[in-house]
Amino acid sequence: LQKIYLDNAASTPLSPEVLEVMLPYFTQIYGNPSSIHAHGRQARAAIEKARKQVANLLHCSTSEVFFTSGGTEADNTAISQAVHSLGVQHIITSKLEHHAVLHTIQYLEKTANITVSYVTTDSRGNVDYDHLQSLMAWPKAGLVSLMHANNEIGTMLNIDLVAELCMQNAYLFHSDTVQSMGHYLFDLQQIKVDFLAASAHKFHGPKGVGFMYINTENKIKPYLHGGAQERNMRGGTENISGIVGLAKALELAYSSFEKDKAYILGLKKHLANALLEQIPDVEFNGNSANLDDSSLYTVLNVSFPPSEKADMLLFNLDIAGVSVSGGSACASGSDIGSHVLTALGAAPERPSVRFSFSKFNTMPEMEYVVQTIRQLVLA
Ligand SMILES: Cc1ncc(COP(=O)(O)O)c(C=O)c1O
Repeated sequence: LQKIYLDNAASTPLSPEVLEVMLPYFTQIYGNPSSIHAHGRQARAAIEKARKQVANLLHCSTSEVFFTSGGTEADNTAISQAVHSLGVQHIITSKLEHHAVLHTIQYLEKTANITVSYVTTDSRGNVDYDHLQSLMAWPKAGLVSLMHANNEIGTMLNIDLVAELCMQNAYLFHSDTVQSMGHYLFDLQQIKVDFLAASAHKFHGPKGVGFMYINTENKIKPYLHGGAQERNMRGGTENISGIVGLAKALELAYSSFEKDKAYILGLKKHLANALLEQIPDVEFNGNSANLDDSSLYTVLNVSFPPSEKADMLLFNLDIAGVSVSGGSACASGSDIGSHVLTALGAAPERPSVRFSFSKFNTMPEMEYVVQTIRQLVLA
């Protein structure tokens, strides 16, 4: 039985080169980076080198990069502290955000007396930029929090345009870039964002480590209180092996970006076309079948016609050795299901499967998946 992993938007396998650079930090370079002795200084130097690597890739200052435990912490910190430290009273977001963002904003709405506006999105998850601009007319200190690439449907934000609109309207801009970091070449000299959130395990780095970018103009207070780590911004002994691995993974992602993107797009195109040709009434959620910048090239979200067999598709793909995720829009009265597909207005009776690719997938795997789906849905 083949084992095929097509759930790379959930997590990616660690690159062997990343593991290699991480290993010494478990057994040889184990000092606490806050210690002033030689062991500690060696660990500190590794963290600062990693910070420089990340800052160089993103074209920002090392003082703007803060390591965290992952995307969730980075999102929570940026949004909460925009409210608590920078006086934000109005947050504009969308119903398609990851729960790390949505639940943080909903919590602040209940506890911090802020107003939340949801920008209109169309049936493919595209933001209505005119509506966004009109929401920013509110004369209160505000934050726009919109994800760069949607983790379920791959729809991408025009991040340059939103950054520009935020600047014109004196709104802060936070973008959850957890899905796009490592799959997009950010140049922070060109895009004016205030906060970004990233997570290493989405780009062949280790789990439990990420970073936030905080533009130097924004002086926020820590979200996690404790020691003076991360320049007083985030208490807690640093995950050194993770941080070293994150920086290596991001370097690898940037250095082979064009090659990997072209290769993965080839896989996605092949799978999308083969499914269209071979399975009747297949549709694609979001912009995910697009091969341009309106969709993240690593995600293809497929909607299948309703049938008992299609309902069992995820389960049967798993039995057949194919790991994917999926779901459907919430049926009325239930909150089980995808809040993203529900917000798009997707039909709850149509099951959806999210295929998400990495450079480690192959064309024969795509063929196997198509043939397996044929058997599962048509037989
Ligand atoms: C868009 C998005 N934001 C945030 C997160 C949370 O990241 P982490 O798992 O590193 O906390 C994820 C993870 O799935 C994600 O896809």
